[in-house]
Parts: sequence; structure tokens; C-alpha cells
Amino acid sequence: MTGRRSWAEPWKVKMVEHLRMTTRPEREQAIAQAGFNTFLLPSEFVYIDLLTDSGTSAMSDRQWAGLMMGDEAYAGSMNYYHLESYKHLIPTHQGRCAEHIISQLCIRPGQTVPGNMYFTTTKMHQELAGGSFADVIIDEAHDPRSEHPFKGNCDLKKIEKLIREHGAEKIAYLSLETNVNMAGGQPCSMENIRATCDLCHRHGIKVYLDATRAVENAYFIREREPGYANKTLAEILREICDCTDGATMSAKKDALVNIGGFLAVNDDELAERARNMVVVYEGLHTYGGLAGRDMEAMAIGIQESVQLDHMHARIGQVEYLGHKLIEAGVPIVRPIGGHGIFVDAAAFLPHIPREEFPAQALAAALYVDSGVRAMERGGVSAGRDKETGKNLFPKLELVRLTLPRRVYTQAHMDVTAESVIALLENSRKVVGLRFTYEPKYLRFFQARFEPVRGNRVLEG
Ligand code: F0G
Repeated sequence: MTGRRSWAEPWKVKMVEHLRMTTRPEREQAIAQAGFNTFLLPSEFVYIDLLTDSGTSAMSDRQWAGLMMGDEAYAGSMNYYHLESYKHLIPTHQGRCAEHIISQLCIRPGQTVPGNMYFTTTKMHQELAGGSFADVIIDEAHDPRSEHPFKGNCDLKKIEKLIREHGAEKIAYLSLETNVNMAGGQPCSMENIRATCDLCHRHGIKVYLDATRAVENAYFIREREPGYANKTLAEILREICDCTDGATMSAKKDALVNIGGFLAVNDDELAERARNMVVVYEGLHTYGGLAGRDMEAMAIGIQESVQLDHMHARIGQVEYLGHKLIEAGVPIVRPIGGHGIFVDAAAFLPHIPREEFPAQALAAALYVDSGVRAMERGGVSAGRDKETGKNLFPKLELVRLTLPRRVYTQAHMDVTAESVIALLENSRKVVGLRFTYEPKYLRFFQARFEPVRGNRVLEG
């Protein structure tokens, strides 16, 4: 089969969901009503929804059948026992609840939490627990053009420097994200994961994995790292987990479910404390805010997620869209990542200053052009500095075209690419934005904007 296209989907469509086609005037009105924030668009006005890969996957017939096997006992649901990972697993209704628990239990006020690039909810929970985040990702991750094959890697020198400056006791733990979302879905190598964990463990610092997209990361290790080509994704995933002390997981991504997550740890005492906390915020420790059927779908989804054919098609679709854009000269984060294509909005719209949020404007303009909904991942997402209150402007100012798993066809990718390319040709018609409403926490979700001139984000 070498040389042939080999990533076509290992499934066929059994049921369809109709989409509403809209006109440009309808979309102009919808985006204005949504305060030029794609998060605030009613989804019925969206044609191709690339906002997120979170909770948007299509479940398989086996998962739907699994829903009928839900054991809705309040305590000790059978489905709970179908989930296992680290020594202790505590279900949560999604990833950020696991982050809340680990942050509250393991961070003391004034401590630092190093991590390989921030994620919005992860950092928020670290700060709410009195900690502060310190970025220890390699410099290449901040450069959209760098072709480094493992841009998610931690820079060991940055970790050593933190330990030297603060002392190991001032470091709560290291938060290790696989297939780093904000860097463009970029993986860590097994070598780096092992070296990072060894370094931390030598200093008595625990490492908690953000396993949200760990299977996608395992796929890249298999593809790119010597010695892994003949291993299964499950074996590689196991190896990643074995290096670390526990994990938080949003099952809404890799695990192919619409809701679900968990916290998993090896430490008995920490597990005990986490079980005490989950009853306050989520529910009993054998369901953590989920129905039994959700846990069953999650257990089946995890099994499906580590099938090589599935992951090959999944990443293959992302690469298909990415190559189309690269061929047309669209500036995107390189190499092509795992869960979506990240358009470099700063390079795409050089006439819009960072203070006018080029990525927010580009996402809104893309929606107006074609009904494709993307998401800003730049200055708006980064929020404000917790001490100075000033806007943070990370090096990466991106629009994320995130691909839900098993949902859209190749023709949908073509339509998306055509729209992005058309915008590139008319990029001068995109107008910058300013806030009209800025929420205190995770502002990107609910913020509202207006164009800095006129009343349209895409002129002409
Ligand atoms: N960690 C990572 C790396 C994530 O990408 C997310 C969610 C979470 C934790 C939080 O999980 O949503 O289940 O509470 N990312 C979504 C996204 C929202 O669109 O990237 P959650």
C-alpha cells in the first residue's frame, strides 16, 4: 500500500444531521449579535463547526449501544469498573473539574506550577489555588515557523532554573500536557517525557499529566520517534502514563465522548483526599458527575481511540486540510498538529495591531465569509497579567480550525480551505476589534467586541 492514500476513514456513515445553509447577510447579522465572538453564535447559524474538538465527536454504534448498558446505581456503578488507568481513578464530568481538584489539593499559595505552555482552564485553576504558572516549553513552540517534530517538549534547562531560583519545595508539581493545545497540537517525545519526569522526581517534584490528547501524542511518537514504529498506541500511551504520577483528563477529546473526564493518581493518600473533594463538587467517587451510561461510552471510546486506523484517519484529515492551506500560502503553525490547523493570524493580517485582536477578527470574518466557525487562540484567550492587570500578548496569535473526530467529510475540508484562501486574498478587508464587554474569568468564552471602524468585521 505504500505510496497510496491510506488514511480514509475506517467507518461509514449511519445517520446524518442536517445543517442549515445561511446567506452572508444572515451571517453578518448573527456575528454582530454575537458581539463578534464565535463562542456566542447559536450553532444553528453555523455550517461547518470547527470551534473545538471538545465533546463534538461522533460516537460509534458500539458507544451508543453502551449507553443502554448504563448502570445508574448511585454507588458502585458497574460502568465505573470498566474504567482503569492509574492506581486510583475518579470520574469527573469534564477535564476542568479534575484540574480544580488537583490544583486545590496540591498547590499551596505562593507556589509555582511549571508546565509546557499554559492552557486556559488549567492555568485558571492553578491561579485560583494561589499558584502561578511558569512556562517551561521549548522556545521553538512559540515560533509558528519552526519545524521541530516535538514542539511540545519541556526545556529541561528552564525547569532546572526554576528549581535553582525557587527551591524544589516552592514548586507544587509539574503539569505536563501531551499534544500541547495552545502550541498548535504539538507532541512531546517519549525521550523528553522521560527526561522531564526523571529530573522532577530527582528533586521530589511530582508530574501530573494532562492526558486530554495523549493518544494523538502517542501517534506522533510512533510516527516520528526512533524505536516506536512497531509499538501499539496503547503501549505507547501506557509508557507515557507510567512515567508520571497521575493525570487529569478531558474525555471530550481523544476519548470520543460528548461529556466526561477523570482524575487519576497513584498516591493512596492523595486519592483519598480527592475522593473527599469530588463528593462536594461532582458527586460520589464512582460517578463524579457522570451518568453510568456516560462512563460506559467513555470506556468504549478509550478503546476505540487507541486503534491505529482510527488515529491514522483522524490525523490524516487534519493533514489534508493543512496541506491544502500550505500549498495556497496560508501561514499556519508548522508542523501540522494533531487536533486542528492553527492559522497564524498575526502573519495573515499584518495590518491589524495586536491590540485589535487579529485572531478574534479573523475568526469572525471567516464565519461571515462561509459559515465556518473557528476559535481565537491568542491575546483574547491569554487574558490579563494576574499582577499588573495588563493584556497579555503571547507570541502566538492564532485562529484554530479544530476538527471534531469522525464528523466532517473531505468536501467539508475543501469548503473550509477555499474560504480561508479567499480571505487571504482579501485580508485587507478584515477589520480589527475592541472589547465592549470583558468578563473577569476566561474572558474569551463570553467577551463581546465591536469593529474599530464601521460596523462590519469583513468589508466589501
Ligand atoms: N486541558 C486541555 C489541554 C484542554 O484542551 C482542555 C479543554 C481542558 C484541559 C479542559 O477540559 O473542557 O473538559 O473541562 N479544551 C477545550 C478546547 C475547551 O476547546 O480546547 P474540559
